Amino acid sequence: MSLENKKIIIGITGGIAAYKINYLVRDFVKAGAEVRIVMTKPTEDFVSPLTLSTLSRNKVYTDFYDENKTWNNHVELALWADVMLIAPCTANTLAKIANGICDNFLMAVYMSAKCPVIIAPAMDLDMYAHPAVTRNLIIIESFGHKIIPAEYGELASGLIGQGRLAEPETIFRTVGNEFTDTDPAFAGKKILITAGPTFENIDPVRFIGNHSSGKMGFDLAKEAAKRGAEVTLISGPSSQKTDDKNINVYRVTSAQEMFDEVFKHYENADIAIMSAAVADYTPKVKATEKIKKNEQELTIELIKNKDILRTMGEKKTHQFLVGFALETQNEEENAKGKLVKKNLDMIVLNSLRDEGAGFANATNKIKIFTPTEAQSFTLKSKEEVARDILNFIAQKL
Ligand code: PMT
Repeated sequence: MSLENKKIIIGITGGIAAYKINYLVRDFVKAGAEVRIVMTKPTEDFVSPLTLSTLSRNKVYTDFYDENKTWNNHVELALWADVMLIAPCTANTLAKIANGICDNFLMAVYMSAKCPVIIAPAMDLDMYAHPAVTRNLIIIESFGHKIIPAEYGELASGLIGQGRLAEPETIFRTVGNEFTDTDPAFAGKKILITAGPTFENIDPVRFIGNHSSGKMGFDLAKEAAKRGAEVTLISGPSSQKTDDKNINVYRVTSAQEMFDEVFKHYENADIAIMSAAVADYTPKVKATEKIKKNEQELTIELIKNKDILRTMGEKKTHQFLVGFALETQNEEENAKGKLVKKNLDMIVLNSLRDEGAGFANATNKIKIFTPTEAQSFTLKSKEEVARDILNFIAQKL
């Protein structure tokens, strides 16, 4: 990752955490980036334009006009940027972004930007937990913007909870990751990735599923695409999205559908990473009408699904095949067993006994095994875990 000559716009909105941006600007400039600051008017009560102008070595924009009535061209500024960061982003600005309300210079720059946008919200804990903020964050993510979640800790109100602006180092790293150079180990390679759960229908209303959100698989796909790979992502039901043109997403529901879709692409793949949580069993009979609650007890007979990964291992020719193992006990033994039984080149173990690991969390803690090696990693964001996994694969290719 190099920030040398990269053009970064930082939009700052009026929150107490705005002071942290001074450090961030200094670090970006030190790393060789060109930084331009746009701040909303209320932000001037929290942080000084003079300080930010000195640190960024550029003028700071607060309005469409300067004091001498010269126009600040928001379109030109927006198109100049390689990336736009909005930090701290207040609940108010989040709502404007989610709804396209363009009533200040910062919003005009944001709405004209064609570059990747990264947003780091900060507010008090109850505001952060408010359903309107949750909804706005979901909408904003669906625009393809990256959210750096607020952190847990002491807040300006004196209360303790989630709402603190992410630390400058986290924001710095996230912005830097936008500029990951293509990786010769992956450039032009065809990578097949599975993500999410599978749903096995019981009747038209109910299903057997699991808690996988799909995030681990989507983060792997995004990281592989960023490194120059051509990615085929086969996902079970998941709200995760990507608009990366190097990722072809195929949505499936059941394990059988995932099996069928995987084998349309496996032969041509160079690398396959199976992070989906596939149901091991499916109802023997899927009722065509909703099952009525007439009986005191209901027994559903289940039959085994095909093991997609095991079949891939059996049919492996040239592919580098990576499996996941989600365990709750005898973790290492079970993971190593799957590595051998499924004829894998590598397996990624995550255990539900590790806090913050596995399903639904934004974080994961993994241990990687190959037939001859093992490497443990600390608890990290799933984006960072995806990078660790691809770095490990790169060494093995
Ligand atoms: O989606 P997230 O919320 O981000 O959570 C990520 C995750 C916890 C789902 C992911 O990190 C993970 O562990 N995925 C594998 C879950 C799993 O089903 O593990 P397993 O040990 O049961 O299966 C072993 C391997 O066989 C997996 O690669 C699985 O995709 C594959 N498998 C399993 C059963 C089956 N019928 N076919 C398969 O291909």
